[in-house]
Formats: sequence, C-alpha cells, structure tokens
Amino acid sequence: MSKFYYLTTAIDYVNGRPHLGHAYEKVITDIIARAKRSLGKPAFYLTGLDEHGQKVDQSAQKSGKQTQLYCDELAVCWKALVDKLNLDIDDFVRTTEQRHIRVVQAAINKLNEHEHFYKAEYRGYYSTKEETFLTDRDMREDGTFDPAYGEVTELVEENYYFRLSRHQDWLIDYIEKNPGFIEPQIRRNEVLGFLKNNELEDLCVSRPASRLRWGIPIPFDPEYVTYVWFDALLNYISVPAAHNDPVILEALNLSPVEGVSKKELWPADVQVIGKDILKFHTVYWPIMLKAMEIPMPRQVLVHGWWQKEGRKMSKTTGNIVDPIEVVEDWGEDAFRYYIVRELAIGPDGNWTDSGFAARYHAELANGLGNLVNRSLSMLNRYRKGVVPNVSNELAGDVTKTVEEVAGLLEENKLQPALLSIWSLITRANQYVDSTMPFKLAKDPAQGARLDEVLYNLAETCRILAVLVWPFIPRTADKIYEQLGLNSEPNKTSEAVWGGLPEGHKAGRPAPLFPRRDVKSDRSK
Ligand code: ME8
Ligand code: MG
Repeated sequence: MSKFYYLTTAIDYVNGRPHLGHAYEKVITDIIARAKRSLGKPAFYLTGLDEHGQKVDQSAQKSGKQTQLYCDELAVCWKALVDKLNLDIDDFVRTTEQRHIRVVQAAINKLNEHEHFYKAEYRGYYSTKEETFLTDRDMREDGTFDPAYGEVTELVEENYYFRLSRHQDWLIDYIEKNPGFIEPQIRRNEVLGFLKNNELEDLCVSRPASRLRWGIPIPFDPEYVTYVWFDALLNYISVPAAHNDPVILEALNLSPVEGVSKKELWPADVQVIGKDILKFHTVYWPIMLKAMEIPMPRQVLVHGWWQKEGRKMSKTTGNIVDPIEVVEDWGEDAFRYYIVRELAIGPDGNWTDSGFAARYHAELANGLGNLVNRSLSMLNRYRKGVVPNVSNELAGDVTKTVEEVAGLLEENKLQPALLSIWSLITRANQYVDSTMPFKLAKDPAQGARLDEVLYNLAETCRILAVLVWPFIPRTADKIYEQLGLNSEPNKTSEAVWGGLPEGHKAGRPAPLFPRRDVKSDRSK
C-alpha cells in the first residue's frame, strides 16, 4: 500500500454556524482532493471540529447547555454541511473524541520527556475570541487592543511553556530551503519577515483546570489542561494515528488500533488554512513537529478572506452568506463554481449576490448548460440520439485543454484550470454557431457534415464532464447520464478523444442550470 495524498483543512470552532469562509475552505480542499483522485492518486481528505477552549466553553454556557451536549448538537449541523457541499471526505475529526485525546496526551508526554516544556509564571493578555495570547507589543498606544481580538483579559498564573525559541533559526532555514512549503509566496515572505525581525517567545501551552476545565488534561499534571491550539493542531496527526499510520505510531510510541487496516498518510501533502491562522500553522506547528521528530507537511496553502458586498461578514450586522441557504436556493454546484471562479487561492474576495447571479447565468446556464443542451437536443432531433462515427475536428483543442488542465490541477491552480475549461466551452459554443448544424440538417446533401459536427459536440461534452468533475461533480454526473453513459466521469484518463463509440445511444437533455429570474429581495 502506498502513501495517500493527504489533505487537511482547519478544524472549525464549534461555537456557531458555518458561513461562506468555512464553506470556501472545505470546497477548495474537496476540489484538490477530487482532482488528485481523478489524476489517479488515492487521496485522503480530513476535516472536522475544534471543540475545546474557552471560546466554545463560554458559548455553551451562554446557551445554558452542558458543553459536550452543546458541541454534539452543533456538530450535527457542521456534518450536514459536508453533505450539502458534496464534500468527499475520508474522516471527520472532533477534538473531544477519545482517539484524538489519546494522541494529544502521547505527544505531550513525549515533549515533556525530551524537556521541551518548563513551568513558569505567565503574565500577559488573552483573547478568548481568537484563543490567542497577546503581549504588550500587541497593545495599542492607548492601552487597548484591536477590536478584532474581542474582550482581552489579563492573566497572571503558573503554566507550562513550550520552548519555541530554540528552533527559530532552524525554522527560518527550513522555510528558506523549501520554497513550496508555504504558498502563496506572499505568505511565505510574511512569515520569514516575522521570524527574522522578532525573537520568538515560548508558547504557553496549558491552562489551570481550576479556571478552564474544557480541555484535555495534561497527563503528568492533572491540575492543568492543554491550551486549545496545542490540542487542535495535533488533529492533523491524531487521525493518521487512528488509521495506524506507521510514521505517527512510531514517533509517539503508540500501539496500533486493533482491527484497523494501516494507512500511510503523514506527512500531509497539503494543509489548507485561512490567512488569519498563518502563524499557528507555519511557526508553532512546524516547531511542534520538529520537537516530536515528525516530518514536516509538504505544503501549507493559505487562502484569503471573503467579505460580502464589500463589508466584513458579521453575525451582529447580519451581513452573512449562509452557504446552506445558497445551496438550497441555487444548488451546490453553482455555489462551488462561483467561489472558485471568483477567487484565486490567496487574495481576499468579495461575494456579491448580483455577481453570483451573473456568473450563474452567463457561465453556467448560457455557457456549459447551453452547450450540453443544444448538443444533445440536436443529436436526438437529427440522429435519434445515436452517435455518428468518430470525427476529430475539435480533438486538437480538446486534447490541449485536457493537458493544460491536468498540469494546472497538479499544482492546485483551481481558478486557472476553470478558466481553461471555460475557454473550451466558449470554443465549442462558437463551433455550433459557425458550423450551423440546424442549417445543415435541412440539406440532405450535408448529412455527412452534420454527422461530423454532432460527433464533435457530443464528444466534447463527454470530455468536459470529466474536466469539470472535481469542481462540480453532480453536474458532471448529469452530463454523463444525459449522454447515456453509465460510468462516472471521475478519471482524467477517460478524457481521451474518441471515447464515445459510434452507434452509442445517448439519452435526452435536461437543463443543467435552469435560467431563473433574479429575486430582487434576496437580502432577507
Ligand atoms: O481558527 N473568509 O477556527 P475558525 C475565508 N479552530 N475564510 C474564513 C473566513 C472568511 N471570512 N472566516 C473564517 C479556527 N475563515 C481554529 C482552527 S486548525 C488546527 C484550528 C476560515 O472557525 C479561517 O481562516 O475561526 C480558518 O481557516 C477556518 O475558517 C476556521 O476558522
Ligand atoms: Mg476565527
């Protein structure tokens, strides 16, 4: 058994409902996972929930519920999002699970045995909203903190510290020698700039259980629980351990789980996160791994942040994109398409309802939808749905696109891949306009020419289904179904010209993206 292409997302705080930002991260990771599978690499996609820490505990208390029950209830709604977005995940972790706790405790024990911890008095500030420690340097001149941190409390207490600073030079060197480790490069430069201009402070990794009980007990000192970030980051290896990944079992000296077949997952191939949690994933996490003598992930891929209608998304002002609502209204593929087409992985994005509707109509309904619809309608009308003999007029254009898209997907360049696919759609729609099959059909002498055109269109639609599958899998399936094919368009190796055999009986078309009136009052 060879190693899986292992992908992770951030695990979300279970203190509210999912919004566009969470959905975006899960969708781009799903597309990368599906693209790898389509290219023939087995992939393993992990996502899940971050359930410990002060923020979750406080939210539970506000709701009047026992904390675990609060998490259990919300977890249902987060898991439902996975299905709503048609994410093909391989595991879903919750940090309150025993399989996770076991690994966190083993990791803490190992770090302690190797003297990576010491105990000292902590004096400083804490932002519960961001679950992060702040220092005087984060304080503004007037003694306050950026409102993004929410309420900040001053703390003086004894705690355990993780020696970060001794690894600072190693980390700078590692990031410099591995240019692909942090993508995009702007984020890599940001981390390098930070590391070169600041001395790393050791990380406080515990909270007294007397003050915060909602965490994983420190195994060698039950008066303390683990700091939520220290616990959360370890999900990326606790799940591999639960699947008997030999690298993690050996590093943490864990016994294999009985009855579970071994999967080689670690090191992760891509860890997808948002820009706000860059430091946790490119400073703390690599140092934790180094200290545990576990190999580095191959890449941390950092996406930007979404706004809605040019303003920060916020529950209090109601300026929110609820992914579930959009999916129920427009279908999951329209949602998946828009967010990836609109925003490359890296910069910040802006959701607008009008932009969404415009892309839906221009690119999905009139672009892909119309091409498939008219190609199949004409095949049915003029040839009773029977595929004519193979013709290669569009073969060159299609093959070029297939190669280009495969290359882009190898590099996780999703938006450029979509652009390439859509230029083929445009090309094929132009082909209909220029060959005018509806005119050819009126002239019996043009029968052979009509056959050629119909073949080229049907075969282009088939290959397009394979190309769009990672992005909009349900639509891809529908195209295959309408073409009367009973396999799945989920292998790039199927995207070879001439696959549709002469004499094959295609099915009937049905609109993939029905045109619709845009409701002007979508705001409520
Ligand atoms: O940070 N646009 O959880 P979280 C794009 N539990 N992405 C966004 C976004 C927006 N407007 N808002 C949030 C946490 N995100 C920790 C992670 S990982 C070991 C622990 C992204 O629920 C954000 O950048 O606050 C992050 O990657 C993810 O949603 C979860 O955020
Ligand atoms: Mg956050």
